[in-house]
Amino acid sequence: MKKQDVVLTGDRPTGPLHLGHYVGSLLNRIKLQDVYKQYVMIADVQALTDNAANPQKVRDNVLEVALDYLAVGIDPQKTTVFIQSMIPEIAELTVFYLNLVTVNRLKRNPTVKTEIQQKGFGESIPAGFFVYPVSQAADITIVKANLVPVGNDQLPMIEQTNEIVRTFNRTYSTDVFCEAKALIPKVSRLVGLDGQAKMSKSLNNAIFLGDDVDTLKKRVMSMYTDPGHIRVEDPGKVEGNAVFTYLDAFDPDVVKVQELKDHYQAGGLGDVKIKKYLFEVLNAMLEPIRKRRLELGQDKAEVMRMLLAGTEKTREVAQQTMRHVKQALKLDYQ
Ligand code: TRP
Repeated sequence: MKKQDVVLTGDRPTGPLHLGHYVGSLLNRIKLQDVYKQYVMIADVQALTDNAANPQKVRDNVLEVALDYLAVGIDPQKTTVFIQSMIPEIAELTVFYLNLVTVNRLKRNPTVKTEIQQKGFGESIPAGFFVYPVSQAADITIVKANLVPVGNDQLPMIEQTNEIVRTFNRTYSTDVFCEAKALIPKVSRLVGLDGQAKMSKSLNNAIFLGDDVDTLKKRVMSMYTDPGHIRVEDPGKVEGNAVFTYLDAFDPDVVKVQELKDHYQAGGLGDVKIKKYLFEVLNAMLEPIRKRRLELGQDKAEVMRMLLAGTEKTREVAQQTMRHVKQALKLDYQ
């Protein structure tokens, strides 16, 4: 018997998923699906908030993301996977929530602030993008989720969701919604190959779960290490060195990693050597995922059937929630 709690997470289908997603939330979801009722949402509506002119890209990546889920072990028998745009109740609930949030509060959301900078919107921020935290609150609450496994950049979204839940319940004297708790993993924000910002497709510093062997090797060999480590015999720095950050995150052999760190810091261990070792570690981890992904990709219609089945199940729950919402809002005309 699964526990009562309800888990919801999601990803924007703007590209296939990468190692940042893997440590940030996929690993948690694989564990959680055995314990809780879990929903995983492909956030195509949210993807369009900053990709309004690229519907084909979003459409193509819905399947890519679904393939990533299945390849890493998200099991549709245990996890309900669904497509956001096919639950119109989410959009409906968003409209009601927008009345409970101020423009100033939205301006203060740190994740949105960072993204506005990264995407270079300047003065031309799409309104839909600006309010996406409100839509994300609707994603979470439409299935009354109380656990949200995400990377720590999503914490402000959960905070804002809970503010909306409290305001809703207070304003309409109801207890329709419950607050949600974020579940943040140990390594929750993986740096990119460049060692700079977090790993992301748009920053072109990612390793994708489906990368073929040659691409994986090329990406690992291009990684940022210690710019001061010029000759092999020089002592090198481990802190801020992306290769060691990844070894810490992915190599189960902690003793070996410690030996490599000691050797690197003492001098005499070259960057090429540690990169080749990291490649072996990552390849061992990604090989079965890559294989499964290729197999499943042979039958895309079957993947779509899985998504539609999950969507149908979610829709029933969403309609139930909206009946409660409409009662609270005095919109239950009959
Ligand atoms: N904002 C998340 C991201 O950038 C995706 C997302 C949409 C999400 N709705 C969600 C995550 C609800 C958790 C819960 O990837």
